[in-house]
Amino acid sequence: MITKPKVLIHVAIEKHLTKKIEEVAVVEELAVTAPREQLLQKIRDVEGVLLTPRVRADSVFFDAAPKLRVLSTTSVGYDPFDISEATKHGVVVCHTPGVLTPAVANLTMASIFSLSLRLFEYESYVRSGGWAKRKKMPALGNDIQGKTLGVIGFGRIGQEVTRRMQTLGMHTLWHDVFDVAEPNAPKSTYRTLNDLLSESDFVSLHTNLDDSSYHMISDDELKLMKPTAYLVNTARGALIDQSALTRALQSNRIAGAALDVLETEPPAENDPIVRLPNVICFSHIGTATEETRLAMRELAVENLISVIADKTPPAPVNPEVLQ
Ligand code: DGY
Repeated sequence: MITKPKVLIHVAIEKHLTKKIEEVAVVEELAVTAPREQLLQKIRDVEGVLLTPRVRADSVFFDAAPKLRVLSTTSVGYDPFDISEATKHGVVVCHTPGVLTPAVANLTMASIFSLSLRLFEYESYVRSGGWAKRKKMPALGNDIQGKTLGVIGFGRIGQEVTRRMQTLGMHTLWHDVFDVAEPNAPKSTYRTLNDLLSESDFVSLHTNLDDSSYHMISDDELKLMKPTAYLVNTARGALIDQSALTRALQSNRIAGAALDVLETEPPAENDPIVRLPNVICFSHIGTATEETRLAMRELAVENLISVIADKTPPAPVNPEVLQ
């Protein structure tokens, strides 16, 4: 009798997706809220695990899972996972690129519009009765056409944001650790990081978080930005040194920021950044639409099943493990 491999599902997924996994594996489920100790117990004898980026997968995690072959996350970001440890342990890590590009680009655009048109200030002016009482209106907004957008991280999402904002009349710059864009990337002008920061009216972050990008925007970088410029972060909070950004915003060193991600999520109740008048802050909602989240879960399940069935998964992070 052939015994099916065991996999652990540590994320809420639809029944039809669980059924799909059951075609190739014996499924065990662990609530997403379960404590880490329980997770470390459960992964002892599984060959695959489906989880969210809330889980930290470090050497302790991989040591606790000697049979593990695939870690499939329902996210594009894989910063909580130690990829070199995974590779050392022969575990392929898979993620969900592509399916969430439009959703994150949408939020980035919405952020740029909200900042430039001061939408939230006008909304709260009306909601708080300011208009009814004929109070002084907020300051006028600014057009985005003719302004310069600097995109840091010129992968799928950075390129999509560039494409869309170009059609709306923005000039675009890009910066990445690679100084040559992919052949299919939209035509945009490369700048060093410092030049991009000093020339842009909007700076938008779309890069992965790793040791080299941690706090890539700190005091020195913020000083390079125009006092009229805005910073948008829909990628990862720790790309920005948040204390430095708080100071820059409090002193109006830059005009404002839209932040979908913070260094600590959720933020401490007394974190000043979320209440600054020149900040709009969201609760990590870049992918938070029904359609996009479903597509992410579907892709994560496909990744998991493929590896378990000895097939090439659609989106491995460390494909060298598969060789
Ligand atoms: C991602 O997919 O990485 C999003 O940030 C959600 O975690």
